[in-house]
Amino acid sequence: MFITFEGIEGTGKSTQIARVREYFEAQGREVVQTMEPGGSRIGVELRKMLLHVDNREITPTTELFLYLADRAQHVGQIIRPALEAGKVVLCDRFADSTIVYQGYGRGLDTSMLRELNGVAVNGLWPDLTIVLDIDPEIGLKRATLRNIEDGKAKEEGRFEAEHLSFHQRIREGYLTWAAFNRKRIRVIEAAGTPEEVFARVKAAIENLGNDAA
Ligand code: TYD
Repeated sequence: MFITFEGIEGTGKSTQIARVREYFEAQGREVVQTMEPGGSRIGVELRKMLLHVDNREITPTTELFLYLADRAQHVGQIIRPALEAGKVVLCDRFADSTIVYQGYGRGLDTSMLRELNGVAVNGLWPDLTIVLDIDPEIGLKRATLRNIEDGKAKEEGRFEAEHLSFHQRIREGYLTWAAFNRKRIRVIEAAGTPEEVFARVKAAIENLGNDAA
């Protein structure tokens, strides 16, 4: 089973992914937890280029191809082999991030992005995508604080430094994109305690089992 997690900064994705991991492990399933960008060795190098605050001159098209390169490597080297071995793969961001950030965010054509994503994922789409939804003002505050605490404000601060209106566009982008993909994408309210949010996430996962049966 392949589940991806999406949302703007500071929605509590990492916390939820950790819970989902525990949930599957408690059922005796083997879980591979991974992320984009940076889920493979080569991806780690690409991630550094993509997220460093000094790389502001990066053009939208360059940015796009770096994310796609990261994804192609990740799918080929990590995700597909894990799924073929019967493992559960939990991925922090995947192809929908490209549609939303490079498309709705940077203004690249979303149908072109769909096609290029198709090349990168090579037929491998998630069984379920969870979009954690939160007011960008709350999300950004959480994310900036976390980066400062982790001492990562420079290395990983490029997106957090974007204007609030960019993040608002991203949030709306997710909601629009989710509405086009109702079968695969579930939007989950991310305000509330981690327990409350996890109850919603778990329901979405268990529902998926019912749909498939
Ligand atoms: P990361 O620190 O992993 O963000 P978060 O903690 O919010 O998951 O940084 C990834 C950033 O890269 C994030 O701001 C979204 C962006 N991104 C894209 O623009 N396009 C993509 O295809 C992917 C995978 C990520």
